[in-house]
This record gives sequence, structure tokens and C-alpha cells, in this order.
Amino acid sequence: MRITFCCADTKPEPWLAALRRALPQADVSLWHSGAPAADYAVVWAPPQVFFDEQPQLKAAFNIGAGVDALLALKVPAHTRLVRLDDAGMSVQMAEYVCHALIRHTREFDAYEADTRAQNWSFRKPLDRADFPVGVLGLGVLGARVAQAVAQFEFPVLGWSRSAKHMAGVQCFSGAQELKQFLSKTRVLVNLLPLTPETENILNRDTLSQLQSGAYLINVARGRHLVEEDLLALLDSGHVAGATLDVFRTEPLPAGHPFWTHPRITVTPHTSARTLRSESIAQIVGKMQAMERGEPVAGVVDLVRGY
Ligand code: NAP
Ligand code: GLV
Repeated sequence: MRITFCCADTKPEPWLAALRRALPQADVSLWHSGAPAADYAVVWAPPQVFFDEQPQLKAAFNIGAGVDALLALKVPAHTRLVRLDDAGMSVQMAEYVCHALIRHTREFDAYEADTRAQNWSFRKPLDRADFPVGVLGLGVLGARVAQAVAQFEFPVLGWSRSAKHMAGVQCFSGAQELKQFLSKTRVLVNLLPLTPETENILNRDTLSQLQSGAYLINVARGRHLVEEDLLALLDSGHVAGATLDVFRTEPLPAGHPFWTHPRITVTPHTSARTLRSESIAQIVGKMQAMERGEPVAGVVDLVRGY
């Protein structure tokens, strides 16, 4: 079996060494233009020339959950695209979202400012019933986040393409139920894949439908959010604040208003990182299953776009 590795922004050596350890009989190498034809690829944001030169690939394994960068390319029709299916990401996402939510609802920023000023003062506890949390996307990550938030006894709602039933989560589905979902939500968490249907879904119209004093946590993709619409709704007071991990341009450009906005918290696309050993174990297990002719989870549906 020949495996080629082509991942932007990723130090290749530890991945190549770990893949060789896991599959000692395989020929594992770093892709370069003109490299020999491979059976499988491990990829992150490869250039178009990569697929142009490797038309025989049986599958390309993306070392992330989101496949929007891959779907922007022309991929050979018979090459299956396989995304990471959790591989240690959902627990990180649950930590991140619960932290952002609780930091906001327990007013920890205000307490920190008070105690730094050596001011021992209490705030009236906020009622969690007043902070219904709506999760856009109830897939691998969104479902774990919704369940984690429900553990803290917030009202939890979720929205997905297909109808779902989840204990402790009021589920909505399809475009026709989005309005109802938004009107019942105050803290909005975005965990949708980026597709033509979801691009710009966080805009003036949808964010205005959230309950007043809304809070946005965007951990999916920057192109879900119309940035100037968020700024306008922060100015109007309808949105109280936001925690943003992803941006239309990454790294966030110098001078971008999000860097210094007093009610926006910025993190550098770090809410759920790819964990090398978990990811390699998953990818190797799937390559072996494919070689045995067995089905694998996480194959991208090119029509749905995720
Ligand atoms: P997933 O398992 O594919 O889940 C996607 C969810 O979105 C599903 O519930 C799906 O509905 C729903 N959905 C898709 N299109 C929809 C539409 N048009 N209307 C309503 N619902 C729709 O994906 P995942 O593994 O949870 O990952 C979600 C996204 O998180 C990734 O695509 C990636 O962009 C982002 N991500 C970000 C980071 C980070 O560090 N910031 C890390 C990992 C992932 P169905 O259930 O009905 O199919
Ligand atoms: C990261 O953003 C991912 O899609 O895994």
C-alpha cells in the first residue's frame, strides 16, 4: 500500500513517522509534484495540482472535520473523501463552548475586573433559564456540545438538516424550523459545516431573531458569519457579546475591529485541534477497513457538501 501525505500548515515528520509505525508494510512518503501514484492520501488543504497528479487515489483522508477546503477543489470522481469523525475533537469543543457560555453567564469578566481592583462585591446571580442555548448543527461535534451544555441545566435547543430526537435537547430541523429555533435561543453556538446553504447564515436577519441580549459562539467557519452585521448588532445592543474562534480571513488581519472590540473574545482557530495520535489511529483503521472492502464512517457526501 502506498500512502502520500500532503497537509498544509502541518509539520510532516511526526505524521510520517507515526503512519510508518502504524503501517510498517506500507510505503509512506511526503507528496511532491511528480511523486509516484499512491493508493491513499492524508491531506489538509492540498493544492489542486495534488489531485490532478494523483487521479488513481482510492481515498483522501482529511485531517480535520471540515471539508470545505477540499470541496473547493476538483477531486477525481472515484476518490472518496473521508473526514475526521471526532478523533478527540468533540470533548475539546464541549470544553470550549461550556467555558465561553459559563464565563458569560457567570459574569466572570466583571468579577475579574472587580477583584483586580481589590473590590469585594457580589452580583445578583443570573437565572440560567434566561439563557437558552441553541446549537446550529447536531452532528458529531454539535451533539456532544448540546449534551455538555444540558449537563449544566441550561435549556438547550438544536437545529439540523434532518429531524432528530436527543434527550434534554429541543430539536428543530430544516429551513422551515429555523425561525422558531432562533426565536427561542439567546446563546447561539454555530457548529454547522460550511456549504453553499450555510455560508453567511449568521447575518443581520438571523441574529436579529435571537432573544435580546443574545450571545454568539462561532466555532465552525468564519464564512458563516457576516462580520459587519455582528458589529452592527453589538452596537445596537441586541447582541451582548461574542466568542469567535474562526474568521473569514485567518490569521485575523492586523487592525481588524474584532481584535479590540470590548465585547468580542477572539481565539486563533483552536477550539478543537486535530490530535495526531487519535487521528492516525482512526485513519489507519479506516484504510485497513477499506482494504477489506468494509464501509467506513465519515465519507463525505458530495451532494450535501459535508
Ligand atoms: P457533522 O458531524 O457533519 O455535523 C454537521 C451538522 O450540521 C449535522 O447535524 C447536519 O445535519 C447539520 N447541517 C448541515 N447542513 C445543514 C443545513 N443546511 N441545515 C441544517 N443543518 C445542517 O460535522 P461535525 O464533525 O460536527 O463538524 C461541524 C463543523 O465544525 C465542521 O464542518 C467544521 O467546519 C467545524 N469545526 C471547527 C473546528 C475548530 O477548531 N474551530 C474544529 C472541528 C470542526 P444532519 O445531522 O441532518 O446531517
Ligand atoms: C478544523 O477546523 C476542522 O475542521 O477540523
